[in-house]
Amino acid sequence: MHRIAFLGPPGAGKGTQAARLSVELGVPHLSTGEILRHAAGEGTALGQAADRFMREGRLVPDELVLQLLDARLRLPDAASGFVLDGYPRNRAQAEALDRITPLDHVVFFELPEDWLLERLTQRWSCPTCGRVYNLVTLPPRIAGHCDDDGTPLHQRSDDRPEAVKTRLRTYSEQTTPLLAHYQERNLLRSLDAKGSVEEVGRRLRSALEGNRGSSGSSERQRTAAR
Ligand code: AP5
Repeated sequence: MHRIAFLGPPGAGKGTQAARLSVELGVPHLSTGEILRHAAGEGTALGQAADRFMREGRLVPDELVLQLLDARLRLPDAASGFVLDGYPRNRAQAEALDRITPLDHVVFFELPEDWLLERLTQRWSCPTCGRVYNLVTLPPRIAGHCDDDGTPLHQRSDDRPEAVKTRLRTYSEQTTPLLAHYQERNLLRSLDAKGSVEEVGRRLRSALEGNRGSSGSSERQRTAAR
């Protein structure tokens, strides 16, 4: 079974790798950020409630996210596995997830803050298909337009500097403690998220196969979980 969760700071490349890995493994990519942005775009009551938190870079209340995620995990395509990107983000969510489904691997994306800021400020994405670009590292073929469907690209409202600052702080206060939660369960794999998308993808596969030597040293995993 491929029941995999990605943890890591905003901009570390979780969504980029989750999209690729889900195709390779034939399991869905479940991004709580995308699920919430979709609900906000639809204008549902739940989506509108979530939108305010997201714009400010704060976590959406646990109950709202759990309701959406639980419904998504019950769809048949998630029965044989999933790549979960952006959940859990605090202890209450980790405990809720433990009750819903076991995990086979938890991958922690490690990237220094100056790299995160560079990746976030250059990110643009397609509002139609969700494909993510980077103006420096992964630019579209035609400036400002999606390679797949030609839609004009847009920048996420939470990639503004103020919201990014809040997201990074929220991550370090609420999500970092989860590394210990998964290390105690021997599920945690650390991943050096520097380098090209292909390089990180190779390290990711290696980490999932249990070859920790090329994905991140045991020492780094112990340090990260502290
Ligand atoms: P979410 O959408 O999950 O955002 P995030 O966790 O902050 O992560 P990002 O999407 O910003 O970054 P990423 O690591 O996926 O990086 P990406 O691959 O795009 O959540 C958004 C909001 O929703 C939250 O703030 C919160 O409000 C709410 N929310 C979501 N889940 C929640 C939950 N469980 N509970 C409560 N609230 C929740 O890459 C970044 C950029 O770098 C891109 O431009 C990409 O092209 C580029 N890039 C990626 N990899 C590489 C590489 N190897 N080399 C060069 N460039 C690269």
